[in-house]
Amino acid sequence: MVTWIINAKTLSMETGEMEIKHVRLENGLIAEWRDGSALPDTTRAELIDAKGKLISPGFIDMHVHLREPGFEYKETIASGTESAAKGGFTVIAPMPNTRPVMDTPETIHLVLDKAATEGVVRVLPYAAITKNELGRELTDFAALKEAGAIGFTDDGVGVQNAQMMKDAMTLAKSLDMPIIAHCEDDTLVEGAAVSEGAFARKHGLKGIPNESEAIHVGRDILLSEATGVHYHICHVSTEQSVRLIRLGKSVGVRVTSEVCPHHLLLSDEHIPDSMDANWKMNPPLRTPKDVEACIQGIEDGTIDIIVTDHAPHSEEEKARGMARAPFGIVGFETAFPLLYTKFVRTGRWSLEFLLRRMTSDPARVFGLPYGTMAVGAPADLILIDLENEREVDPAAFLTKGRNTPFTGWKLYGWPALTIVNGKVVWTEENGINR
Ligand code: DOR
Ligand code: ZN
Ligand code: ZN
Repeated sequence: MVTWIINAKTLSMETGEMEIKHVRLENGLIAEWRDGSALPDTTRAELIDAKGKLISPGFIDMHVHLREPGFEYKETIASGTESAAKGGFTVIAPMPNTRPVMDTPETIHLVLDKAATEGVVRVLPYAAITKNELGRELTDFAALKEAGAIGFTDDGVGVQNAQMMKDAMTLAKSLDMPIIAHCEDDTLVEGAAVSEGAFARKHGLKGIPNESEAIHVGRDILLSEATGVHYHICHVSTEQSVRLIRLGKSVGVRVTSEVCPHHLLLSDEHIPDSMDANWKMNPPLRTPKDVEACIQGIEDGTIDIIVTDHAPHSEEEKARGMARAPFGIVGFETAFPLLYTKFVRTGRWSLEFLLRRMTSDPARVFGLPYGTMAVGAPADLILIDLENEREVDPAAFLTKGRNTPFTGWKLYGWPALTIVNGKVVWTEENGINR
């Protein structure tokens, strides 16, 4: 099967210039690039006219929640991967806090089998560090690796016991696998819903302190230094965490980290007084100073990659109010337009910088063969419309979740077409193609 995508705008990673090019896909791989001067012979090929839209490697999201098995009312592997495709993501890594928790080879197989039959993008699952994510007993890392897990994490909760984390790291290192950590010390959090900061003070709420994150970050960087494991920190949200990661990297610790669009764009001062739980996520929105530190962290490479932490919940759950609603917001269908509009169009970042943080950098950090448009690479490609402004409309989402704080935001940079393994899986005109 041969496909030609013609008239695609490409960003030269060397010069930063835009050039029109044509690309031939064959057998799921990128087969050939041609310069835009002459149209290739496209007889007998599937033809896609990009009409000057930007072509990019599909985005890679190393932190998502697909909710299946167990919470299918929030999301399924089908709906979650459809949402990912619409957001321009071609590779996603779901977290194991499902029901049952993905802590056995059987659950990993189940997720991989469902992804193969019902999913539309690549799904690379993580497995839990501890059984049922309870922090008491390690899972069978070797068997989980064998089953196809790409790393170990108890995301949703922190591993509270330092010896347990050290044992996990030692075992992961022996298997050449990464540990991915949700950093949160439970003893400092106790039931709070928002960050310690202006919003909590104004409303007389107990706040989640910044140290609850940074204490685990610091502890685990030391444990990573001791064990030599690749240690990856989830959703960095505080200035202290950025400072500690910078220090760890400066002395050669194998630490990498990620940040979410909402922690780069929103502080607790943006939370509306209505106490809308669509502004509740974990880690919470922190202070403006923390937001700026996270931006500087991604800019100087202290933070390596951008992820969404796509965390769908039902409308009923999110209607329970700030104190009782679950933590989390959806992310796939707004991530790139948000960052493109707020950081690239404003001139703070180059387009190349943003694309790298969502494509080649996650591939490098996790050793994946994606995130590249080189000849011979898997044909995971997207087209993006950089010109047209549109409003965020949760009613049009493909995710089952409607939980976003970005409703009504006017954004540029909307994905228009998504190709996975050489196959068009989603287009703006026709939606999902299975
Ligand atoms: O906001 C969050 N939602 N943070 C987490 O750590 C877990 C996630 C979820 O599973 O909903
Ligand atoms: Zn988390
Ligand atoms: Zn998460």
